[in-house]
Amino acid sequence: MNFSPADPDSIATESNNAVEFHDYSVTDSDFLGEVLSGLSRTPKAISPKYLYDQQGSVLFDKICELPEYYPARTETGIFRDNVDDIAHHIGEECILVELGSGSSEKIRVLLESFRPNQYLGVDISKEFLLEATQSLADDYPWLEVHAVCADFSSELTLPPHCNTDSVVAFYPGSSIGNFHTDEAIAFMRQIHGLVGIGGQLLIGVDLKKDEQVLHGAYNDKAGVTAAFNLNLLHRINRELGADIDVEKFQHEAFYNESKGRVEMHLVSITNQAFMIGQKKFSLATGDSIHTESSYKYSLQEFAKIAGQSGFQVRKVWTDQNDYFSAQLLVAI
Ligand code: AVI
Repeated sequence: MNFSPADPDSIATESNNAVEFHDYSVTDSDFLGEVLSGLSRTPKAISPKYLYDQQGSVLFDKICELPEYYPARTETGIFRDNVDDIAHHIGEECILVELGSGSSEKIRVLLESFRPNQYLGVDISKEFLLEATQSLADDYPWLEVHAVCADFSSELTLPPHCNTDSVVAFYPGSSIGNFHTDEAIAFMRQIHGLVGIGGQLLIGVDLKKDEQVLHGAYNDKAGVTAAFNLNLLHRINRELGADIDVEKFQHEAFYNESKGRVEMHLVSITNQAFMIGQKKFSLATGDSIHTESSYKYSLQEFAKIAGQSGFQVRKVWTDQNDYFSAQLLVAI
């Protein structure tokens, strides 16, 4: 993927601050191919990026409001408590690229103190991205806003008319934890290429902690995380014409201590078979589809990953429980 459109579309709205839109969305055939191959291998697994269609993004936003889901509010608290210091370390006059911008809420906390010249929101979920970036453009009329619909886990480059003197990538929410370690390093190397030497990355990283806190965060009482996970099966039915009986699956999430990650699975509660297109899949009771890993790091472990990706940690901000960290890395 390349964020270099010749003629980006400007979204026509009544707002004075129009969002420039660049579309590099994934096609249905990518989704179909990955689902078919993921369900054909052992153990069965589907990439967590497919959790985020329109419905999944709405559910994820609800997760971030849950009392048990500490990462979102803890990170926002860290940004709020340290906004001036973060702005001071980042410096002025930059282009800010938010990867996986979602509802673009977190950047609002920083925009109170920090005035980038341009904001580029990159997300895989098109409708959500357009809504969120337009609302940002309306609320911050001084900000030049771009929306890039893309699967940014592939190649990353900036649109040609962007000022590339000082690029700061913003990757909050500990989404880096959803990559396996080798993938995280490869992805951060790509971010290194995007920001260039001397460029920076402000990243949210979830930290290792008591297992019960982790268990609660991914097994909320209201069942929103379960709905988020099961939505993947509804999405496969909706978009790929499958006939999966979603009621025959249940959400499971647990901390795998030896791997340092929370794992999310969809587990078959009966022997069953379903069709996706022409292909038949049979599952026995207890068979699982691994849908997400969420790695938790110590500060030392993450500093090592940063180093292996060409970054140096400049400053780390944490909350009083040391549950979560916001880290400013510089590309060396
Ligand atoms: C987006 N990502 C960092 C979330 C996480 O905690 O791994 C996704 C999520 N999965 C279940 N709850 C939230």
